[in-house]
Amino acid sequence: MHNDPHPKSATTQRLCGKSELPEEGCKEFTVAGQLIFVISHNGRHVAYVNECPHLGIALNWAPDKFLDSDGKYIQCSMHGALFKPEDGECIHGPCLGHYLREVTLKQEGDAIIAQLS
Ligand code: FES
Repeated sequence: MHNDPHPKSATTQRLCGKSELPEEGCKEFTVAGQLIFVISHNGRHVAYVNECPHLGIALNWAPDKFLDSDGKYIQCSMHGALFKPEDGECIHGPCLGHYLREVTLKQEGDAIIAQLS
């Protein structure tokens, strides 16, 4: 029997305690060498891989700073592209209609766990 050369493996990692996430705004983490960020939005936490869908570069303009000046959208620091916090869809900019790659978040007790597939 041969091993699958492209096994579907998922990395699961504890990020932090729930109380360590900001009530509004973003926080960066590294999971299996991959930069991700968690955004607190309308009382919910959503996480994305920190890569623009069109160039694959990091989006933030300073540590943990991903939002536009109104704090409404995730913004690419280089091109001003805007992404919806709730689903990562680009609504303005060169990657219009494309999505940030979402990272599954789970909560176990007070711990926030990220699952990267
Ligand atoms: S890298 Fe894609 S919008 Fe900036």
